[in-house]
Amino acid sequence: MSPQKLYPESGVELTPFLARYYDQILNIGSVGKYGRFIHKAIQDTGIRPGDTIIDLGCGTGRNAALMLPNLGEAGKVTGVDLSPIMQQQFERRFAGEERARFFKHRIDIPFDLGEKADIIFISFVIHGFPHEVREAILSNVRNNLKPKGVFVILDYAEFDLQKMPWLHRSIFKLFECPYAFDFIERDWKKILSEKGFETTFEEFYFWNYIRLLKSRSLQ
Ligand SMILES: C[S@@+](CC[C@H](N)C(=O)[O-])C[C@H]1O[C@@H](n2cnc3c(N)ncnc32)[C@H](O)[C@@H]1O
Repeated sequence: MSPQKLYPESGVELTPFLARYYDQILNIGSVGKYGRFIHKAIQDTGIRPGDTIIDLGCGTGRNAALMLPNLGEAGKVTGVDLSPIMQQQFERRFAGEERARFFKHRIDIPFDLGEKADIIFISFVIHGFPHEVREAILSNVRNNLKPKGVFVILDYAEFDLQKMPWLHRSIFKLFECPYAFDFIERDWKKILSEKGFETTFEEFYFWNYIRLLKSRSLQ
């Protein structure tokens, strides 16, 4: 990844070290709980055989690997990410697997994969941008999703930082970027509804701080 950040305060534009050891850091930082959580969250996404999926800000491909068993022979997943270090890990993970491909691109500027998706998935990425950039990402979702397609956000839920227990609040403040503080205050169901999406399912994890928000395009 370029040493120059696109959005100076973003915490999702990872340093080379964080990108290289991202999965291991999550495993250790969550004292081993992340693996079971992300497996459950991907199952909650409701993937069906034959689905075409785009994973925005896909990282190492850990999520895509959990999606593949549900996709059958005809389904496929495209991971989009700007990081060459993530690209290397993704492509190594899926060497010889034709149902998974990596597309090196920014998710906040227009792109065209040549085929629209049944599901667009984004996990732990969208909170890390200024809100106008999130809007640009939502436009990309709209342009790359099939009619009546499903958009899934796995990220922070809405919560009041001041009401968090001291330890949780301190951890959030220590590790999160300023954009995340704004993200948790927004009404994402309303934002999605204004963009033509209807919430169809939500599930919460980790003391309700994390939410899988599934919505269907009304267009
Ligand atoms: C916190 S990681 C999450 C990775 C993955 N979604 C997961 O849940 O394991 C954020 C990812 O977003 C990518 N990213 C950050 N800004 C991006 C941008 N503007 N366009 C594409 N990818 C971006 C980073 O390279 C990184 O892989």
